[in-house]
Amino acid sequence: MNKIAIIGPGAIGSLLAASLARKKKVEVWLLDKHPRRARKLLETGIRVESTGSAAAYTAKVNVSCDAKDIGPCGLIVCCVKSYDTAAAVKDIAPLIGDDTSVLSFQNGLGNWEILAEAAGSERVLAGSTAQAAMLRADGQVVHTGSGETIIGRPDGKMTVAMRSIRDIFGLSGWPLRLSKDITAVIWSKLILNVGINAVTALTRLPNGALPETEPAKEIIALAVAEAVQVAKKQRVKLLYDDPVQKVESLCRDTAENFSSMLQDILKRRRTEIEYINGAIVRLAKNHKTAVPANTVLSDLVRVIESSYIHQVK
Ligand code: PAF
Repeated sequence: MNKIAIIGPGAIGSLLAASLARKKKVEVWLLDKHPRRARKLLETGIRVESTGSAAAYTAKVNVSCDAKDIGPCGLIVCCVKSYDTAAAVKDIAPLIGDDTSVLSFQNGLGNWEILAEAAGSERVLAGSTAQAAMLRADGQVVHTGSGETIIGRPDGKMTVAMRSIRDIFGLSGWPLRLSKDITAVIWSKLILNVGINAVTALTRLPNGALPETEPAKEIIALAVAEAVQVAKKQRVKLLYDDPVQKVESLCRDTAENFSSMLQDILKRRRTEIEYINGAIVRLAKNHKTAVPANTVLSDLVRVIESSYIHQVK
């Protein structure tokens, strides 16, 4: 693999691009749909600070708003918000060569299916990362927590391409595990997002503050229990035995992080609620299962994201 394109210069996309570019094991490109921002990122590079002990650094990355500038890549990593996936991959044909893999590195359900439609199911990989990051500004990212990254193919096959992705990511400080059951991986991450994202967005608390208050813990326990029930109905086997404990330990491991949904609310943007708690509510309906905590959490986030202009400062 000699070239990787990352779509979307958000917190995770920027962190990944900088981590890979810094180690220079592969040519790294960032595809950014905003031409002005792309020009700026090309000029400044990406600055990475860490809330841990790692030293800050700046990595120069190739950036373009046009896939034709980049050409065929060994790997395309989609890091855009779930609601932007379809638009982001609409024009990626120039990035696709004979051996290209396309990896969804996104929160929530439904993303790899969109990539499969755009690029062909034989190329598609899905992944989940517990690396946590926040954008201070365009091109300035704070790495707020490290965690496991897992990728796999929806058909469960293990391929040479997957092994070479694992090697390159590993050399770039993203230890990566391969899985034959990516549905379990995606759901196991989904349940962590179900527990953390809406609650942090509504309370405006950093992840680490959630397990410090009993009411927050109770809401998390309810929302997570409902999502686990839906997972069982979907016949998904989770990767851990105690999901609530897993949510609380992820909150502590990423204590200073503002969840991606809280970052969206603070920037008055659309959130991924429909792909996280909202997805649980939709699936629960199919199974005629009541999920009141997820219903209320989804509705409250929807109220906020649809009424920014009315909010009292
Ligand atoms: O969406 C997020 O913010 C992240 O997936 C996670 C791991 C919950 C950390 O905040």
